[in-house]
Amino acid sequence: MDLITTPASLRQQCRAWRKQGLTIALVPTMGFLHAGHMSLMDHARLRADRLVVSVFVNPTQFGPNEDLDSYPRDLPHDLAVAGEHGAAAVFAPEPGAMYHPDHATWVEVPEMGKLLCGASRPIHFRGVCTVVLKLLNLVRPDVAVFGEKDWQQLAILRRMARDLDLDVELVGRPIFREPDGLALSSRNVYLTKEERQNAPAIHEGMERVEERMRAGERDAETLGLIFREHLADKLPDSRVDYASFVHPESLAPVARVTTGTLLAVAVFVGKVRLIDNKLLEV
Ligand code: PAJ
Repeated sequence: MDLITTPASLRQQCRAWRKQGLTIALVPTMGFLHAGHMSLMDHARLRADRLVVSVFVNPTQFGPNEDLDSYPRDLPHDLAVAGEHGAAAVFAPEPGAMYHPDHATWVEVPEMGKLLCGASRPIHFRGVCTVVLKLLNLVRPDVAVFGEKDWQQLAILRRMARDLDLDVELVGRPIFREPDGLALSSRNVYLTKEERQNAPAIHEGMERVEERMRAGERDAETLGLIFREHLADKLPDSRVDYASFVHPESLAPVARVTTGTLLAVAVFVGKVRLIDNKLLEV
């Protein structure tokens, strides 16, 4: 497996593979790889001849008061994991290598980017779209694989790809969870022991909502309260940032919940902000 650290050498390597008639899959990540990332790599490896994993803590998607500096990093671990999961190359650029000092061009899906997480993270999805488009341009993969854990991110990237006629298939994969239901996230390492013990309440809360929905409740506001009450009860020291019922593609809020409605949540557990979601089924 190759470690590639400059955009120019990444482009060159991928160009050489394409010339040999090989197909390429890309899994973009910010590193500190866990089993959720591994599930994406395992799938991506089946979809193409060569797998490229990018490991880049993208500064442009972090707000001024967010955790860019403290975001967990472990490149030696990431290289080992990517190698074990079939990557042909890991692209891990130095922070300065991805953006020119006078970088001035942004890709944005402004309406969708303001919803849900965008309400408290106004520049986040602009940074995500810009870096993902840059990575897609460098690699020119046949497929790029993303996790449904970040449903809004995937929905926005799909809109970007459609609107800009990108020649790539974007594949979404299911959320990988711990046995107790907590969605894997690089940020879970910030949780205290007690917070970690109680954090499965987020997933349970979404299941309670689905149970009530199956019992006949369809009103989004009422169902939202059920989620909030569950957390107030089971996850002390938590604050619900949002618990929203939305259309899974447009992310537009819905008042009446049906099969196929997405429940998307963000919860502060102490200082850590965790997101999760569930596609609801009656
Ligand atoms: P990161 O948070 O490292 O996630 C990389 C990919 O792993 C994303 O597609 C994310 O949805 C997926 N992922 C994370 N946790 C998951 C889980 N528990 N189950 C399944 N998939 C999971 O998302 C980003 O990085 C960045 O925004 C990025 C797209 C790399 C752009 O910088």
